[in-house]
Amino acid sequence: MTHYTHPQDAAQHTAWQQLIQQRETMQNFRMQDAFAADPQRFQRFSLNHDGLLLDFSKNLLDDTTLDLLMQLAEQSQLQAAIQALFNGDPVNASEQRPALHTALRRPIGDSLVIDGEDLIPQIHDVLNTMTEMVNRIHNGLWRGYSEKPITDIVNIGIGGSFLGPQLVSEALLPFAQQGVHCHFLANIDGSEFHELSSSLDAQTTLFIVSSKSFNTLETLKNAQAARSWYLAQGGTEACVDRHFIAVSSNVSAAIKFGIAPENILPIWDWVGGRYSLWSAIGLPIALSIGMSNFKELLAGAWGMDQHFQEAPFAENMPVILAMLGIWYSDFWDAQSHAILPYDHYLRNFTQHLQQLDMESNGKHVRQDGTPLSYNSGSVIWGGVGCNGQHAYHQLLHQGTLMVPADFIVPVVSHNQIADHHQWLYANCLSQSQALMQGKSHAQAAQELRDQGLEESEVQRLAPHKEIPGNRPSNTLVLERVCPRRLGALIALYEHKVFVQSVVWGTNAFDQWGVELGKILGEDVYQRLTKQAPSSETDASTQGLINFFRNRHRG
Ligand code: F6P
Repeated sequence: MTHYTHPQDAAQHTAWQQLIQQRETMQNFRMQDAFAADPQRFQRFSLNHDGLLLDFSKNLLDDTTLDLLMQLAEQSQLQAAIQALFNGDPVNASEQRPALHTALRRPIGDSLVIDGEDLIPQIHDVLNTMTEMVNRIHNGLWRGYSEKPITDIVNIGIGGSFLGPQLVSEALLPFAQQGVHCHFLANIDGSEFHELSSSLDAQTTLFIVSSKSFNTLETLKNAQAARSWYLAQGGTEACVDRHFIAVSSNVSAAIKFGIAPENILPIWDWVGGRYSLWSAIGLPIALSIGMSNFKELLAGAWGMDQHFQEAPFAENMPVILAMLGIWYSDFWDAQSHAILPYDHYLRNFTQHLQQLDMESNGKHVRQDGTPLSYNSGSVIWGGVGCNGQHAYHQLLHQGTLMVPADFIVPVVSHNQIADHHQWLYANCLSQSQALMQGKSHAQAAQELRDQGLEESEVQRLAPHKEIPGNRPSNTLVLERVCPRRLGALIALYEHKVFVQSVVWGTNAFDQWGVELGKILGEDVYQRLTKQAPSSETDASTQGLINFFRNRHRG
C-alpha cells in the first residue's frame, strides 16, 4: 500500500499551525497597500505557461504566506503524490485503482507499464479507431438506413460522459468541421428528449451511448427512448448498427442493449468519469472539431501535465491555484469559489468544474476513513461575464461572504465585432480591480458631497455606497480559446483539484455520496408506481408521493 491509505491529518503539519498564526497577522493586510509598496508585485505573483498567463497578485498574499503554503504542500508530500498519480499507483484507495487520465494525453512512443502491460499502445489503438470512425462520418461514408450521410450526432450520457464533451465541443465551435452537428442528451426529463428529437431526422442521426458503466439510469432510459424513436421514424432493426455506437467499459451490457460489438469503443476502469473527456468519451469532441484538433487538445493537456510534474511548487500553476484555494477555505472560512469566464465559448466551463471539483473534493473523511477536522471542497459556482455583473456580482462586491473568484478571459476573440472584445476584456479586468479596490466610507461620502447633497443625506447614503474591497481573485488569460490552450486550462484545474485532495488527505477519485440518491430513487419510483407498499417511508416523502399519485389518479 502507498502512503495514500495513511495520509497525515493536514492540521498536524507545522505549516498548517503557522498558517493559523499567519491568518491573524494578515487580518489588516490590504492588497492595494501591497501593490503600492511593491512595484514588482504583478511580476512576482504571476506565471506563464504555453499561452496561459496566471495573475495571482490580487490575493491576500505576501511572501511569508506563499512560503508557508508551499511548505504545507511539501509537508503533505505532494511531490511523491504527483509521481504516484502519473506512475499509476492506486491513488483511488477506496476503489483500489489508479487514476490515469494523464496517460490518455501521453504521446505515441511513450511507455507506461502497469501490471506488466504497456497502456500507451492501447490508448493509441483506440485513438486510431476514433480516427477511422471520424473520417468515415466526415467523408460521408458512414450512411444511415436510407443511405444518406450522417449530419447529426447525439451524445447520450450524463455527468462526466456529458459535461466535458459538451464543454469542449461548444468551446471549440470555431474549429467545428462542416456538415456534422453535435447535440447532447443528458437528463431523464422527457421534455429534453422531445425538444431535441423533434429537430432531428432519424435517417441522418447517429447516437453515441456514452456510459463508462453502461448502468446509469438516465443514459439507459434515453438510449431506449432514442432507439424507439429511431424505429418509429422508419429506421429498421437491421440498420441499428448504422445509428448507434457506444463508449463503455461494460461491453457485455452494451451488446445486450443491441450495440454491434464493432461499434463499441472501450474506456478503462482507471479513467474516472469526470476525467474522461480525453478518452473515447471525447468522441463527440473529435466528431465536432476533427481528430487533429482533438490531438491538439490532448497535447495542450500533456504540456500542462509536464509543467505540473516539473515546475517548482512556487512556479507551478496548479499548485498555486490549489494552495490559494486551501488558504481561503481553511483559514479565511470562504465556503464557495466563483468561476467567471469572460468568453461565450467558455460558458459551460463553470458546470464542468462543478462536477470536476465538487465530485472530487466533496469528501468528509481522509483516505484511511478518519474524519476531517477542517473544510474540504468549496461550492463551485459562477457563469459567463459580463452577464454575471448584472446578476450575482453584487454579492461578490458587497455581500458579507468572502467569495474568491477566478476570472478567465482570452486576449484574442474569434469574432471581433467593432470594439466589443476590448470592452469585454476591460470589464473582466475592472471587475477584479473593483473587488480589490472597493470604495471606502470616506470616498463614498465625498462623492455624495461633490454631488451637492445635504450632510444628513450624505451620512444616510454613504454606508450603502461603501464597498469593502480587498476581495481576492485570480485572473487567467488565454492567448485565445483554441484546442491546445483549452486542453491546458482543463488539465490545470484537474491538477488543482488533485493537489487539494493530497493536502486534505482525501480521495479525489471516488464518489460514494452519489450512490445513496440512486438507491433511494429506485425505492421512491417503486412506491410512486405502486410496485411497493407506500407506508414504509418518512411522512414528507410519502406526502409528496401521494400528491403525485392523486394528480395521476385514474
Ligand atoms: O454521477 C455519478 C457518476 O458516476 C459520475 O461520476 C459519472 O461521470 C456519471 O455518473 C456517469 O457515469 P457513466 O459514464 O458510468 O454513465
